[in-house]
Amino acid sequence: MTSAEEMVAGYHERTKHHFHRYAASLGLDWATQPDPFRRYAGADLVSLPLPKGERALPYWQLYTSAGVAPVPLSPASISLFFRYALSLTAWKKAGETTWPLRANPSSGNLHPTEGYAILPAIEDIGDAAGVYHYAPKEHALERRTVLDAQRWNELTESFPDGSFLVGLSSVHWREAWKYGERAFRYCQHDVGHALACLRISAATLGWKMAVLDGVSDETIANLLGLDRDEDFAVAEREEADLLILVSPDLPIPLLSASQPLTKHSEKLIWQGKANTLSREHAVAWPIIDAVAQATRRLESAPIEEDFSGFPSEEELFSTPIRQGLLSAETAILGRRSAVAMDGSTSISRDVFFGMLARLVPTQDREGMPWDAIPWRPRIHLGLFVHRVDGLAPGMYALVRDSDKVDALKSAMSSEFCWQRVADCPPGLHLYLLEEGDCRAQAATVSCGQAIAGDGAFSLAMIADYQDSLATYGSGFYRNLFWESGMVGQLLYLEAEEAGVRATGIGCYFDDPVHETFGIVSHDWQSFYHFTVGGPIDDGRITTLPAYDFD
Ligand SMILES: Cc1cc2nc3c(=O)[nH]c(=O)nc-3n(C[C@H](O)[C@H](O)[C@H](O)COP(=O)(O)O)c2cc1C
Repeated sequence: MTSAEEMVAGYHERTKHHFHRYAASLGLDWATQPDPFRRYAGADLVSLPLPKGERALPYWQLYTSAGVAPVPLSPASISLFFRYALSLTAWKKAGETTWPLRANPSSGNLHPTEGYAILPAIEDIGDAAGVYHYAPKEHALERRTVLDAQRWNELTESFPDGSFLVGLSSVHWREAWKYGERAFRYCQHDVGHALACLRISAATLGWKMAVLDGVSDETIANLLGLDRDEDFAVAEREEADLLILVSPDLPIPLLSASQPLTKHSEKLIWQGKANTLSREHAVAWPIIDAVAQATRRLESAPIEEDFSGFPSEEELFSTPIRQGLLSAETAILGRRSAVAMDGSTSISRDVFFGMLARLVPTQDREGMPWDAIPWRPRIHLGLFVHRVDGLAPGMYALVRDSDKVDALKSAMSSEFCWQRVADCPPGLHLYLLEEGDCRAQAATVSCGQAIAGDGAFSLAMIADYQDSLATYGSGFYRNLFWESGMVGQLLYLEAEEAGVRATGIGCYFDDPVHETFGIVSHDWQSFYHFTVGGPIDDGRITTLPAYDFD
């Protein structure tokens, strides 16, 4: 019998893209295109009010520890929380075709991630606590079940007043429909993006957030109602991914996360039946079910790690950022992927350093969004710098945990010079590896996508793969993608703030990327690519409002 470890390693190898062969997929079958919107027919729909006018809160303020005073729970604050994290932000139109885009990005815009909330009684949302599914198209909550006061207290008694829970799940089929076997990876990337979106959204309301990493996936599925065969029938199932605590105030580390959350009573009455997303599935991808099974987490002690050796905010930024271009709302709701980069826009060294500094946790663990996850960085960056003023074009490395510098040095090509970048903030472990024009190489390894060479810089996210799985178990395979997605989400918003754009790149040739960095050992693996630069807009596409609620 194959062990969970062997299954994960086998899945990762099998779903690599090679120059001569892509990971298995079927190509697009439009007749079975999945519905991007899950609904629970028969569940009460609670509309969330959209505020009129823009909130003036500056984007930079989200990252300061005393950023925003916590806002009380109300329909308005819950509405903004979902608006900034998972809502529609535009409809696009080209010819007769329209399609929605959201605050959270998604590979192929297929949106496998579903959001849930377990909320207390809130006037105009519910007289009692309840479990809700977020419906992005309607910007509304579907009430799946009601919880009595005793059950609500049982779930939340160890958490501060004003706390609530959020869950994320994935419909693997939505991605597999297009991307076949590699889809499990993309679903996890999307979870990571959504997790960062939720954390950033919470910050706009002055709320803290922590992933409850000790809770088993079976319990999460039960708490969110995903284990209810009777409500799904033939509808596509959702895989439980994450349970998150949102709170006006949280101690770090969150020791109360070790408190086990018990399952719901079987007597609860649930409302609503899940819709079927595709009328048929022309193909099944059993490897996805197998890797999902191999990465499911049992209840465990939460991860607790020492961040005292990490830099302070001053060490990361030299001058901490206290001004900027955009409001938080404009950055979040205006975020967009670039479909093409102009091949000419450059960014300044300071902007570049500032973007990278956002990606590193601080020693006080106050740095958002890294305060939401308890593990030290396992994702490091192999950078292709094309157009950063005052920085020689070439390959660079950003080591997000300085304890890993030596390990990365010995894993990568011995020809690299590992020269610390002069004049960059002392907390930033940024190294020149090799000078030179790497535009063509960056595009080639990103499945030949020109955006990787035409941006100001692009990058490969190199995961501390084997050691992470050996330390935390095979379930952590998912966490590596989540962390990459979080890094990516910050790059998206930082690019907006800098007046440029970013794009996630899930399509890359895995082993050729490793060869580019001279990585031979399987210990380090590329988990995601990204590009940042000056976008070219497609003039044939028009933008329509996300909602028409007036
Ligand atoms: C995990 C992930 C992988 C992606 N891979 C690619 C890619 O390889 N090439 C590309 O052009 N865009 C890629 N994208 C960008 C998506 O196509 C984009 O997010 C989606 O179309 C929605 O558009 P938006 O980001 O503007 O909301 C990726 C996005 C994510 C989140």
